[in-house]
Amino acid sequence: MTTDGPVALVTGGAGGIGRAIASRMAADGRTVVVADLDADAVRETAAAVPGPAHGVILDVADADSRRAVIATCDDLGGIDTLVNCAGVLRDARLAKLDPAAFRRLQDVNLLGPLALTRLAAVGMTRRGRGAVVNLASRAWLGTFGSTAYSTAKGGLVGATRSLALELGPHGITVNALAPGFVDTAMTDGLPPEIRRRTLGAIPVGRAGRPEDVADAVVFLTGATYVTGQVLPVCGGRSVADPYAARPRPRS
Ligand SMILES: NC(=O)c1ccc[n+]([C@@H]2O[C@H](COP(=O)([O-])OP(=O)(O)OC[C@H]3O[C@@H](n4cnc5c(N)ncnc54)[C@H](O)[C@@H]3O)[C@@H](O)[C@H]2O)c1
Repeated sequence: MTTDGPVALVTGGAGGIGRAIASRMAADGRTVVVADLDADAVRETAAAVPGPAHGVILDVADADSRRAVIATCDDLGGIDTLVNCAGVLRDARLAKLDPAAFRRLQDVNLLGPLALTRLAAVGMTRRGRGAVVNLASRAWLGTFGSTAYSTAKGGLVGATRSLALELGPHGITVNALAPGFVDTAMTDGLPPEIRRRTLGAIPVGRAGRPEDVADAVVFLTGATYVTGQVLPVCGGRSVADPYAARPRPRS
């Protein structure tokens, strides 16, 4: 089953952002492994991406499941690019933060991706090349009412920077993306008022699209001298004072 081309493993590859990344990786000539918990969406996505693709059902929080997806990639020739995109957003303010839900969120958004990276790094190190892109979030800087998610994404940023130091000598880059607000199933359920206020704070004047994030993944996987970085993909929200262009209230 070995392929000639490089292999990209995209976890959460059947979700909004993951699917766009998988499509771009395939269009760029990689064999794509679309790995996701949602079996129907995996089948549908693997059939739809424009290039060779394999669908694998993955629970990134489960050790056996992680080993199985790595074995599939090894059969295809080994992972060249790992995109840790699987993630969930279920959160609450401190007083309502359920410890079990907190732990599950860390397992899916932080510990699972790190364990998968550890497995993927074995083959990458042997081959002397590889790229890891972690989907963090602007939330790593802190988001009101989102302690569990911010904890996980902040942890992913710290791990990205440390692993870049450790894996750089082996020809492996490790970077993170910090998207702002991207229109996907994850953001569908936001209350209209929060959505309106969030969109109002984006300087380019629109929500992010999954393809915006995929563009950044393409850049990072091709930029072999860029490592340990956190790239905001947020329409300028990370630098702008959202009120700068508006009249300020007089006191
Ligand atoms: N949408 C945004 O505004 C936004 C902003 C910043 C960061 N992100 C991050 O981008 C990534 C993709 O998010 P999205 O917006 O495409 O959301 P999404 O809900 O559309 O996709 C997430 C995918 O992850 C999969 N998944 C969930 N748990 C999993 C598990 N245990 N194992 C494997 N797969 C699992 C889901 O089935 C789904 O297909 C996430 O890590 C998210 O935290 C999203």
